[in-house]
Amino acid sequence: MTKHLLSIDDLGRDGIEEILELTKSFAEVSARRIPKVPALRGKNIAWLFYEDSTRTRLSFETAAKRLSADTMNFSVSSSSVNKGESLRDTCLTITAMGVDAIVVRHRSAGVPWQITKWVDASVINAGDGWHEHPTQALLDCFTIQQRFGSLEGRHVAIVGDIKHSRVARSNLAAFTALGAEVTLVAPQTLLPPSLEGWNCKVSHDLDAVLPTVDVAYMLRMQLERQKQALVPTLREYTAGYGLTEQRLDNLGSETMIMHPGPMNRGVEIAPSAADDPRAVITNQVANGVSVRMAVLFLLLGSGGDLGTLPEPESVQPDDGDAR
Ligand code: NCD
Repeated sequence: MTKHLLSIDDLGRDGIEEILELTKSFAEVSARRIPKVPALRGKNIAWLFYEDSTRTRLSFETAAKRLSADTMNFSVSSSSVNKGESLRDTCLTITAMGVDAIVVRHRSAGVPWQITKWVDASVINAGDGWHEHPTQALLDCFTIQQRFGSLEGRHVAIVGDIKHSRVARSNLAAFTALGAEVTLVAPQTLLPPSLEGWNCKVSHDLDAVLPTVDVAYMLRMQLERQKQALVPTLREYTAGYGLTEQRLDNLGSETMIMHPGPMNRGVEIAPSAADDPRAVITNQVANGVSVRMAVLFLLLGSGGDLGTLPEPESVQPDDGDAR
């Protein structure tokens, strides 16, 4: 693996498979009574989140802690960004304190690439504008693999606001790299103006696609990125493209229902669909920690020799570990 994790395309099939293989070991670490190994002791990781996040940030934080890394929290709202400090100066300030990796989320596409030119640290893209969200794609691949063994020949529908979704872009690249077939399902207004070079089919008919899929991957309407009304009303959007309670009968008994979160229950996914036994949305979140442990370990650790995956740190007898 290279020094940075910026996009799925940089990884290719081999790089994705290397991370997914390593993730199995970290899922095993995560299941231990004490889910902590000293692999990244002494490493320092900074979170640079210029956009809101619940899952991704907490998941990276948990992953770093399970690997015994130190972390530096940066909050745009309480930092000198509010005093006009530039992104470059912010990065130089952070790295002057000694960081090994910067995990960045930013509203503008390309910011993680830009940062690699300014700093020596590894840079991990935690979402750049509409562009890429590689660790989300990796955790989704891992979740599908867990169920089906492989993505080869599986049919995945990615449904909803494709146009504004970095998850759609990274997931399409990762799913197809691993041999899945992808159909994008959305109204024309929520598709990018051109799909040239996109390795997928497109449909506007969710009811026709649902019975044929192994995975129904629902996306949130990214209203914060939409400058104009792209659907007549949210109610009409739900009627055409939401995973409604009625549509659940259209899904196979083994079909996985996935969503990257945050969900807007009642818009793109009905509460009964989100809570259906076929939904794996909380598994996605749990797997996110193990995938991010694998990524951090590959970038900052000893380079993936799993034969030497460290044992848990010794436990003091009086630590009251009653789990
Ligand atoms: C997504 C994101 O921020 O790109 N969420 C996530 O990271 N799990 C998707 C979204 O915001 O809809």
